[in-house]
Amino acid sequence: MLAGDAIGNFKTVQSFANEDMIVARYNLLMGPVNAATFVTNIKIGFGFGLSQFTQFACFAAMFWAGGLLLETYWSMKMDDVMRALFAIMFAAFQAGNAAAFGPDIGKAKVAAERVFSIIDYPSQIDARASTEKGLKVNLETFVGKIEFKNVWFRYPRGKEDFVLRGLNLTINPQESVALVGESGCGKSTFVNLVMRFYDVDVGEVLLDGINIKDFDLHSLRSVISMVMQEPIIFNYSILENVLYGKPNASNSEVQNACELANCMEFIDNHAGGEGLSFDDSAQALLKEMADNKAKLLGLIGQAKYDEEVAVLQAIEKDDEKKGGFQAVAGAVDKRDDKLRDITLSAGFESACGIKGGKLSGGQKQRVAIARTIIRKPTILILDEATSALDETS
Ligand SMILES: Nc1ncnc2c1ncn2[C@@H]1O[C@H](COP(=O)(O)OP(=O)(O)OP(=O)(O)O)[C@@H](O)[C@H]1O
Ligand SMILES: [Mg+2]
Repeated sequence: MLAGDAIGNFKTVQSFANEDMIVARYNLLMGPVNAATFVTNIKIGFGFGLSQFTQFACFAAMFWAGGLLLETYWSMKMDDVMRALFAIMFAAFQAGNAAAFGPDIGKAKVAAERVFSIIDYPSQIDARASTEKGLKVNLETFVGKIEFKNVWFRYPRGKEDFVLRGLNLTINPQESVALVGESGCGKSTFVNLVMRFYDVDVGEVLLDGINIKDFDLHSLRSVISMVMQEPIIFNYSILENVLYGKPNASNSEVQNACELANCMEFIDNHAGGEGLSFDDSAQALLKEMADNKAKLLGLIGQAKYDEEVAVLQAIEKDDEKKGGFQAVAGAVDKRDDKLRDITLSAGFESACGIKGGKLSGGQKQRVAIARTIIRKPTILILDEATSALDETS
């Protein structure tokens, strides 16, 4: 666990110059383990060596016996000898494998029981449950009045402490309300209850006067949009990340949302700029090769060119199988041409990188805000969504 943590978060370790301390702690932890298991390890090593030896000794014996059979009894055919050899070989292999995993069978059973008990645990708030019972939000009349009436709530994990103790709060339509308080006082908890990630213990949460438990979850969440403190940006272009909020938005809607979220300045700056637009995916390289075909043919010749293209195509296929972690142009943007009413600046095409890694924290937040406001939700929740922004933004 120590090694996993340290390697996974190597930047933090390096920034504190704690490498030596981690290595020392690792050695300290491993010291008693090594001492206690020293003799056992030698035994295991010997056993393993012996098992390997036996395996190959068996092979040798089998080939020897097979040869003998062929030589002395000509009635035995080569086919039969090979068949017998392979049958014994594979059977021995599998028997060896089964024996090696034998001691783990108990552990595997316990683990499987735990996994299945989690899978079978019925969700109390099931977003995929049948939607017939739940009330659909009527978009025409829904105004988004939020009422908390004497709400008591504690997290299932922290049974002893109530986070909200008899909260009464009304947020009227058209109102902007800010919740302010020390860290850990329950602001995000309030948001979790409005989104119905949890149900209250006592009291009720009403939306437009209706208990949110009566709403169909999908319908409820479709009118509420939330930007979290650590927004998730996908490895698509900026345009496609914004479209994720509303796949059938027109280009001018995208532009408006980005202007509102104060994104335009950095998007324009990145038009074809270095850094952001750098894309080393097989797809991008293929395109580059096609664009510069004439030049490349002169340099490396047709045969070499075809070879390179074939390699890249194979990588591209592989990437697709892995589930689209690569920035794939047009993966989200499948709109008709009539929605492309205005030409967007080239910066919209820059890829955001895995987890938005090619954007700064504040840029990620702004793209996330644009993605959210393009939906024009009735209720907009920002949970410290601007914590990484400068004052002007
Ligand atoms: N999933 C959880 N399980 C158990 N306890 C939780 C959980 N999430 C939060 N808490 C506890 O509930 C309390 C309120 O947490 P909450 O996240 O609402 O605080 P917050 O006001 O949003 O704080 P911050 O300003 O730091 O974001 C905290 O004391 C926290 O320890
Ligand atoms: Mg919070």
